[in-house]
Amino acid sequence: MAAFLTDQDVAQRVLDHIANRTTDTGEALWREPVRHYLCPRRFTDEVETVLRRYPTPFCPSAALPEAGSYLARTAAGIPLVVVRGDDGVVRGFRNACRHRGAQVASGRGCARAFRCGYHGWTYRLDGALQHLPHEAGFPGLDKGQHGLSAVPVEEKAGLIFVTQEEDAIVGDMDDLPELFTARQQLFDSSEYTLDLNWKVFLESFLEGYHIKPAHPETFFPFGFDNLNVVETAGRNARITFPFQRIAQLKDVAPEQRKVDGLLTYVYHLFPNVLIAVLSHHTTMVVLEPVAVDATRVISYSVTNNALEGEASLEKARNDKAFVSTTGQSEDIALAKSIQASLHSGANAFFTFGRYEKLPGHFHRNLQALLDQR
Ligand code: FES
Ligand SMILES: [Fe+2]
Repeated sequence: MAAFLTDQDVAQRVLDHIANRTTDTGEALWREPVRHYLCPRRFTDEVETVLRRYPTPFCPSAALPEAGSYLARTAAGIPLVVVRGDDGVVRGFRNACRHRGAQVASGRGCARAFRCGYHGWTYRLDGALQHLPHEAGFPGLDKGQHGLSAVPVEEKAGLIFVTQEEDAIVGDMDDLPELFTARQQLFDSSEYTLDLNWKVFLESFLEGYHIKPAHPETFFPFGFDNLNVVETAGRNARITFPFQRIAQLKDVAPEQRKVDGLLTYVYHLFPNVLIAVLSHHTTMVVLEPVAVDATRVISYSVTNNALEGEASLEKARNDKAFVSTTGQSEDIALAKSIQASLHSGANAFFTFGRYEKLPGHFHRNLQALLDQR
């Protein structure tokens, strides 16, 4: 299902905007109460009612290339581990030993089984409890009832989606294009914590209205002032940030236009995941809410094409270094300045205008799910 425009349609729309000095716009404004960024109860509701019940991207499929590949991290406050089984199927578990709760996996790697580091209980890749040392110490223990606690996992669009609660919300994965392929290779992952509400940071990715004033010497010299293609597909969305050099496509027949290196796509996968497709690499960013004023930023970067040697990996690394040390640090500084003023009483609401359609779309969807409870 083609929920997003083709590259050729995006290119045409950008060229039209350049010619007409226009941009994509939303219809309605959105007013978001500032207390929604400050209230610990609201934060708990977002995590428990939405993030844990929504099929949320956990990592690119490419992070789990072979049988036994696993990745452990916290999602919506719960430590989880996902692993590709010998049958190729990816499964997910709460990362807690069924003896006394120690985590059975950490980070990323490849394993034949998960052996708990505390007393050595060992679980198969399908979560079954395989072995416990000195089993005589547990008379009557039903091993069949002590496998790892499973969470529903779905592999789709080149991503691993995890849902944590039984009464799950139906997601919008069917509308997604293939975002990652098996040919792409994970070359970097990182985690850091910011003293920010997760939504304040999220909003900075979702509009191009700020590009000129906020990134005057980093992104703006290559791009445009307030010129974006903005699309929604269910609760998900995509914003296109064109580079000035896309104007060269004017002289190329529409069906032969290739956009590689001429624009950046940023997908927002509701609620808290961003996928930025850049010239030489694609980064998935997870905004993991830690507290009402703290967010763990987890990124997975993959090459855009199968590696053709060190040169393409080098390009991908340079590309990533440019984005994170320049434009992204400007966004973080601005988000921190917002976070510091939230308590000031200056604003009861933040108003998202017609050039900020996607932050409004996000808040509208989040609020609708919270209101259903
Ligand atoms: S807590 Fe895992 S074996 Fe004891
Ligand atoms: Fe920005």
